[in-house]
Amino acid sequence: MSEILDRFIVFEGLDGAGTTTQMKELAEAFDKAQIPCHATFEPTGSPIGSLVREYLRKEKVTTPLALAMLFAADREDHLHRPITGIIDQLSQHRVVVSDRYLYSSLAYQSIDCGFDVVQSLNNFPEPGFIIYLDTPVEDCLYRIDGRPNTNGRELFERQEFLNRVRDNYEVIFSQLHDSIVMLRIDGTLPKELIHAKVIELMRTHSLL
Ligand code: TYD
Repeated sequence: MSEILDRFIVFEGLDGAGTTTQMKELAEAFDKAQIPCHATFEPTGSPIGSLVREYLRKEKVTTPLALAMLFAADREDHLHRPITGIIDQLSQHRVVVSDRYLYSSLAYQSIDCGFDVVQSLNNFPEPGFIIYLDTPVEDCLYRIDGRPNTNGRELFERQEFLNRVRDNYEVIFSQLHDSIVMLRIDGTLPKELIHAKVIELMRTHSLL
């Protein structure tokens, strides 16, 4: 079993599930409570993450395995880079909140590459908390199509693909280690109510 990072909180969900909004709201709640917090996301803003986003926007084409490797390289950098990396931030006694982590690779890249291959690329420490925004595929696609200033759908934003991602998340979350706290929240609830449930979880575990 890999190491568990207690004060590392990860949001997961389909494209359009609302993870970005909820990650930011939680980071703000920590700021307001004057609890040191580092808010972050994957794919990251690093050169590797930026390259990944070019593939997601379909400006470049590669193989599923090369893309899975790039997601993993971005994650390795995200964890271990000096100062702004997750490990350094945690060791400076900050709570780290991330919009997506390795469960996204397990759910998305496994479809084309197979679970074992993706898992072997992602032998990284696990977070203490996973908050899964469970949103039906139809709602996600409706939200994605309604976003202003985007150039159409990205690589994985297709109904059949997202249905399979959702099934994969179920399998992954049914096999989590006991010491990881996983909270599933209905992603169709009003965003204030979702935030309230996240805050309640943080209070229950004395992080807030
Ligand atoms: P994200 O930026 O969260 O999407 P958006 O902000 O447009 O909702 O994620 C980008 C896409 O990358 C999304 O389709 C999920 C996918 N992804 C993977 O396939 N594997 C991964 O490891 C990660 C982190 C993201």
